[in-house]
Amino acid sequence: MAGRFPEGFLWGAATASYQIEGSPLADRAGPSIWHRFSHTPGNVQEGHTGDVACDHYRRWREDIALMRELGLKAYRFSVAWPRVLPEGTGRVNEAGIMFYERLVDGLLEAGIEPMVTLYHWDLPAALQDRGGWANSEVIGWFTGYARSMFRRLGDRVRLWITLNEPWVTAHLGYATGVHAPGMRDIFAAFRAVHHQLLAHTEVVKAFKAEGKGEIGIAVNLGPQHPASSSDADREAAERWDAYLNRLFLDPLFFGKYPEPVVDRFGWALPEGWEREVEKVKESMDFVGVNYYTRSVLAHDPEDPFLSARSVRQDAPHTDMGWEVYPEGLYEILTWIRDRYWGPRIYITENGAAFPDKLENGRVEDPKRVDYLRKHFLQADQAVGDGVDLRGYMVWSLMDNFEWAFGYTKRFGLVYVDYSTQRRVVKESGRWYACIIEKGEV
Ligand code: FCB
Repeated sequence: MAGRFPEGFLWGAATASYQIEGSPLADRAGPSIWHRFSHTPGNVQEGHTGDVACDHYRRWREDIALMRELGLKAYRFSVAWPRVLPEGTGRVNEAGIMFYERLVDGLLEAGIEPMVTLYHWDLPAALQDRGGWANSEVIGWFTGYARSMFRRLGDRVRLWITLNEPWVTAHLGYATGVHAPGMRDIFAAFRAVHHQLLAHTEVVKAFKAEGKGEIGIAVNLGPQHPASSSDADREAAERWDAYLNRLFLDPLFFGKYPEPVVDRFGWALPEGWEREVEKVKESMDFVGVNYYTRSVLAHDPEDPFLSARSVRQDAPHTDMGWEVYPEGLYEILTWIRDRYWGPRIYITENGAAFPDKLENGRVEDPKRVDYLRKHFLQADQAVGDGVDLRGYMVWSLMDNFEWAFGYTKRFGLVYVDYSTQRRVVKESGRWYACIIEKGEV
């Protein structure tokens, strides 16, 4: 296949703090909302928690060696805010920040470019007690924390991400309650949307004033297709498209909330927001795309939320029940190019869960190889068609704590045997190492 990926293309893998680190309270770290949520019975499958996870907090050296083995050019990880600021604000906890300093130094020594996510869902629990993302004070809290990180790591880290999937934080965390903090309040959910937008913007400004490098946001996107050509289904798909794909990007590029969302939820959007959201049009450097699947939607008057239901397709699905739909990646990348004037893009997450088994010391995962190959080809095609794509982070470096699913879903290029913490590079990991080495799909 052609190989249109530009020189210096950042092939990498991604993780997030609460999903891999374990030892959440070590060295005087404060509890996060995910610590609290997973320790509340009924929230996570099998009662799993992040107490041990992949024990990466102690095994990070071994994990950098694994990344080296895979030949990764970049590694995306997140910082646990409550390790750095146990109460969310105030004085920096040296032991917490030192962990990330050592990790960054280790990566650089290994020739791996760090990409740091400031917020991947583990808000300090102390801040949730003050309303979390639903309280506008979070804008200041988050900016203070981000400044500390820029000060301490800004000389060594070039690539920064403010928020991971702010839509998921608002929707699953505040509207449906499937994620921490487990709230079910649509007003709070929209406040979480608005405050994340404002917080992101303040952090980008702070970065531009002091920092060197690039800063962006990582949003989860996927085509929302109508189940038929009827107007009703087409409109249902449009509502979902506005709510999922445009809720953050439209404000960030146009300074406006998408119309179908305003039409539907106007009653939940306070006055004054229209003016405030104009200010979030800020010059971030790139869009981070997390892509997994698409949805096919039918109009459904019984659905109280968006009067739509998703229709399962007769196609392969992953262990998450997500349709394998590689064309959707091309569609999303070219959609961003066209709608938002061709910004720089990194794929900050893409990957698949399958029920992998360790047998005779090996993990054969042909479905993951197939999934990744097909998605890489779509990305390649998009690059050929003028999408300014700079890197591709596979989700995930290793099997980990998959939020409300606990350890029941395996996304890794590396298998983790949780009873021993042994890591085994899967076939997909070996295959990925070859792709990186050749620099083409
Ligand atoms: C994304 C999250 C990531 C991981 C993948 C499967 O929504 O950002 O942490 O859980 O899904």
